[in-house]
Amino acid sequence: MIVRLPSDAMVVLIGPSGSGKSTFAARHFLPTQALSSDALRALVADDANDQTATNAAFELLHTALAMRLARRRLTVVDATSVEGWARQQLLAVARRLGRPAAAIVLNLPLATCLERNGARTDRRLPPAAIRRQHARMSASLGGLAAEGFNPLVVLSTADEIEAAVVEQVPA
Ligand code: UTP
Ligand code: MG
Repeated sequence: MIVRLPSDAMVVLIGPSGSGKSTFAARHFLPTQALSSDALRALVADDANDQTATNAAFELLHTALAMRLARRRLTVVDATSVEGWARQQLLAVARRLGRPAAAIVLNLPLATCLERNGARTDRRLPPAAIRRQHARMSASLGGLAAEGFNPLVVLSTADEIEAAVVEQVPA
């Protein structure tokens, strides 16, 4: 599938831990185009896993997102974004700057996310957390277009994710 994204868009990756968001971002975007909640937790706390740094990390993420969108720089949000309220905060920033809000959902089966999580060497979440995130992603799917994401791309197999080609189209 060819995913065409306006070059001034906010691009929200949606998927549980282990679905491959950071891998997808590294493959298809410049390092400077991606804002990662984990990297920002590490930036303030020297530890990507430190949940006490979450509020600060997202404050930075929303601020950097707004600053980049103001400059019409395509910006990828690399966080799970499986919760409606988390997406609403992102959509509010894009709306305020008048930029398109795209979403790419890495809608892999729960078993694949759990398997990849178990095989990770960098960071690992308790399986229960991944189950919860996966359930929230599944429950979110039907409402994403109505939330305002356009384009909205749902990739539902590892092969589909593997075959995806991203094009950044001048706005
Ligand atoms: P990621 O680290 O990309 O997942 O991949 P993520 O969605 O960003 O996870 P969080 O939210 O930050 O926790 C998870 C694991 O799956 C492997 C990666 O190498 C990594 O170990 N992976 C990813 C694959 O094996 N194949 C893929 O196509 C993508
Ligand atoms: Mg990641």
